[in-house]
Amino acid sequence: MRERLLAAEKVKAIEWEGGQLRLLDQRKLPLEELWHTCDSAAAVATAIREMVVRGAPAIGISAAYGLVMGLRARLAEGEDWRAALEVDFELLAGARPTAVNLSWALNQMRERLDRLKPGEDPLIAAEAQAASIHASDREANLTMAQFGVDLIRKHQGNSQNILTHCNTGALATGGFGTALGVIRAAHLEGLVECVYVDETRPWLQGSRLTAWELAGEGVPVMLNADSAAAHLMKTRGITWVIVGADRITANGDVANKIGTYQLAVLAMHHGVRFMVVASSSTIDMELESGDDIPIEERAGRELLEVNGHRFAADVEAFNPVFDVTPADLIDAIVTEKGIVERPNAAKLAALMSRKRLH
Ligand code: MRU
Repeated sequence: MRERLLAAEKVKAIEWEGGQLRLLDQRKLPLEELWHTCDSAAAVATAIREMVVRGAPAIGISAAYGLVMGLRARLAEGEDWRAALEVDFELLAGARPTAVNLSWALNQMRERLDRLKPGEDPLIAAEAQAASIHASDREANLTMAQFGVDLIRKHQGNSQNILTHCNTGALATGGFGTALGVIRAAHLEGLVECVYVDETRPWLQGSRLTAWELAGEGVPVMLNADSAAAHLMKTRGITWVIVGADRITANGDVANKIGTYQLAVLAMHHGVRFMVVASSSTIDMELESGDDIPIEERAGRELLEVNGHRFAADVEAFNPVFDVTPADLIDAIVTEKGIVERPNAAKLAALMSRKRLH
């Protein structure tokens, strides 16, 4: 499986080159494939906020590289670099609130800098740490893809109609994707009849990014309006809803792209299985339940305009971009540490006590 996924890899969205971060600009896809270069922590924070890069793991990885560039600048200033670097930590951590991967990656960077040996070069250590966060996300994707396929096989036969939401693929991670990694692997194993892709209003991660990634790999894909989900489940033989996550709390509640919660409710009603795929860096054991997750609200203009052109009536728009799916609507959470079926606090605690595989 690993080799076949590696051979099928087509899209990379994050590159660290010559001490700069290059990001495939996700605001422009699929019409234009433009690379956006960041040369400072502030530039990375802006790129995250403005969704040049998006997806929970991808923003964590980008923030880690952003911190490296912040550190380089602080060392060059020659002041107390540890104190000065706090400004960069804060700027990067505040770029988006919901995905815990951002603060997880920054904590990894902080811990590495706290462990410097006497005489060790902080910049070399930080760069290696960011590269390791990037590489381990890729590895986690490969492991989850295998686990997810095993789970599909365990429950059903060979012909899956899968519904997915948002973009959880190569664009959203350091490698192959979380939910989309499982879907790609299932396709390589001949298990997929069709992948139905929610367009994912208002930012259109589904129609612009997921449909592009899947079509580029020859996966049978059908785009649908978000509001078609109930009808699809009733009439198109959907067997699984497979989605990613931005934060999973200690009791197994899952924050993900707005619209995920209603899919889980619909899946329960129609007897469709619901799988969440996310690496353990998305699990926040410090928050008891999904009620504690900060939900990002973005500008109303994302709903009121298309490509800068106003089309809506002259009203205000409410634009929360994530929602929380309660654990009791979830059949399985697939991580690189293993699978938790029917998640609850005890099962999540047992999972998190296992060592990270990568
Ligand atoms: O606002 P976005 O596009 O960053 O939201 C992304 C999602 O909600 C994804 O489903 C989630 O980050 C999982 S990505 C592997």
